[in-house]
Amino acid sequence: MTQHALMGPEIHIERAEGAYLYGKNDRKILDAISSWWVITHGHCHPKIANAVKAQADKLDQVIFAGFTHEPAERLTEKLLRFTDPLLEFVFYSDSGSTAVEAALKMAIGYHTHTGNPRTKIVALEGGYHGDTFGAMSAGARGVFNKLYEPYLFETTHLPFPAPGKEAKTLQVFKDLLKKEGNNVAALILEPLVLGADGMKIYSPETLKSLHDLCKEYGVLLIADEVMTGFGRTGTKFACEQAGIVPDIMCLSKGLTGGFLPMGATMCSRDIYKAFYKEDRAKTFFHSTSFTGNPLSCAAAVANLDLWDTEPVQQNINDITKAHARARGWFEARPDVAGVRTIGTIFALDIPDSTSGYLSSLGPVLYDFYLEHDVLLRPIGNSVYILPPYCVTQADLDLIYDTLWRSLDFIRDEGQQQAA
Ligand SMILES: Cc1ncc(COP(=O)(O)O)c(C=O)c1O
Repeated sequence: MTQHALMGPEIHIERAEGAYLYGKNDRKILDAISSWWVITHGHCHPKIANAVKAQADKLDQVIFAGFTHEPAERLTEKLLRFTDPLLEFVFYSDSGSTAVEAALKMAIGYHTHTGNPRTKIVALEGGYHGDTFGAMSAGARGVFNKLYEPYLFETTHLPFPAPGKEAKTLQVFKDLLKKEGNNVAALILEPLVLGADGMKIYSPETLKSLHDLCKEYGVLLIADEVMTGFGRTGTKFACEQAGIVPDIMCLSKGLTGGFLPMGATMCSRDIYKAFYKEDRAKTFFHSTSFTGNPLSCAAAVANLDLWDTEPVQQNINDITKAHARARGWFEARPDVAGVRTIGTIFALDIPDSTSGYLSSLGPVLYDFYLEHDVLLRPIGNSVYILPPYCVTQADLDLIYDTLWRSLDFIRDEGQQQAA
């Protein structure tokens, strides 16, 4: 995601603590996007760091096929308690993309092994599920993957249920299901927020209706909570707001509090059972070398402990309230559109003739923010804030103020060019 021919030198970071990154000469940068949406409690949280240090002295890595270990067992126990009881099984991997790949394989295998093979995957227009080939296939087609399009499997994309356009999305899905519902294996979606598409938000009611249609036609719902999971949208998982439980749920990023790479694909008993046969050919054939890595598991256990022992939900609620207040200020500006918030996520668009990921505004704004020692990484002409939960009100005020000044800067530049 870095065009080296155009970008300046990378910023060298030496250490991190809480909401801050520290570079050379003790330069302090406020991490307003949680280092690509992974850090939840704050950088280098001592309880997670200590758990990983303790684990490092005991067991570093062991094959996780036919073998098991304490951190994985403890994590599984805790994760099953942290998520809905219908999600009874978990498959560990090492990133969001691998969690999605495993989910797609589970969905396809489920239908085949239960005697009704289905081939079609349905997804949301604008969706992003990672950069491996299965994940790219499920994701939106665009500048990110245009080059690889001939190699991607065909996916049907439903129109994005933008506010006011939900009925269209549901109708397209209904029509598809009526026509070829018995060939649709799964609907994969990012619940409530399309992150990489510029933090586009849709309603819990629509998510619920999509879920209900899936149930009616025996289509598995894969909720990709890689970004939304672990509190980003205000609740532990975005699906909770729609009162639904997906058949398969993908987790990563916040699973270890962002400390170490890890992915998890959770599924219902029915899906597990489809592979649980005295027939080797029906094994769930998927492996990643570092699946169930003990250090990652220890970090994830410590993360879940923090949810039990620290006021994580209170911090999330405080950020949610602060964003809601800031929303009012930004909505009053005539030079922005689509000011939106959900939980700890705040986003707005700056109308621009070159909207989309390649908008020329993105790099200009990115440089502006870094000059002010705030890490914000616009997606095209959309700017979003997604801070770690340890962020203080003073930190948030600094982020809003920097965003406000960047809008003034863009407005004044535009006026100068027009003059
Ligand atoms: C919703 C979603 N799914 C999957 C991924 C891919 O995760 P990873 O980059 O860990 O492979 C991302 C990454 O941003 C994501 O936002």
